[in-house]
Amino acid sequence: MKKLVFLTGAGMSAESGISTFRDSGGLWEQYPVEAVASIQGYERDPELVQKFYNERRQQLSSVAPNEGHRLVASMEEKFDVTVVTQNVDDLHERAGSHHIIHLHGELMKATSTRNPNDPDCIVTLPEDNPIIRMGDKAKDGSQLRPYIVWFGESVPMIEPAIQEVSKADILVVIGTSLNVYPAAGLLNFTHPGCKIYLIDPKDVPYDPSLGIHHIMKGASEGMKELCRLLENEK
Ligand code: APR
Repeated sequence: MKKLVFLTGAGMSAESGISTFRDSGGLWEQYPVEAVASIQGYERDPELVQKFYNERRQQLSSVAPNEGHRLVASMEEKFDVTVVTQNVDDLHERAGSHHIIHLHGELMKATSTRNPNDPDCIVTLPEDNPIIRMGDKAKDGSQLRPYIVWFGESVPMIEPAIQEVSKADILVVIGTSLNVYPAAGLLNFTHPGCKIYLIDPKDVPYDPSLGIHHIMKGASEGMKELCRLLENEK
């Protein structure tokens, strides 16, 4: 089976009603990113940061995967698929994708403030009460925090993601403005024979020498077109 890797961003979940970051009306217009998505912001005002993620976690229960997520999952019938996502929602999981790498963490998980990447401290929050309060403790006794990679923190999953992209026969980039590194740099790890597709309704800055096939549509319509284009791939 050919290896198909997806690199998805906030635009993948836009049609599910989750706002993106940098489109007009995006999340970073409502909240200063450094205040709620950086380690300095957490240290300055932990309650504000906990509130920001508690609100986003509660929104998750009211949204569902869209057609684009479902079509990404359906590609596992024909290809060896890995989904590398910058998204912290669980919509790829709920749509049925199995091999998912979350580069920026997972909204439904919480961890230690002392050692956020200690596997013994990473827990899944209960669906019926996905709230973290100041005073809630991780297994190591430190304050519980969102299992999110904040600006200024390392991206531990970038190595496995590079391994997957470097072996891809086909790379499909969906719904990311390619603004944030190291995620955006993954495109440079494709081997010369890898076919790269981009699904995004807007123009996105990328290296023209990569020979990218840009499907200028939203995630759902774009994935329908991609399925047609890949029909004869074996
Ligand atoms: N279908 C596909 N793409 C869409 C859709 C849609 N329906 N609607 C918008 N888009 C595209 C936009 O054109 C844009 O290129 O999705 C992209 C969203 O870009 P961003 O808001 O910058 O989101 P993303 O690239 O995922 O941000 C990367 O930045 O703030 C951090 O950690 C955060 O993971 C996030 C990272």
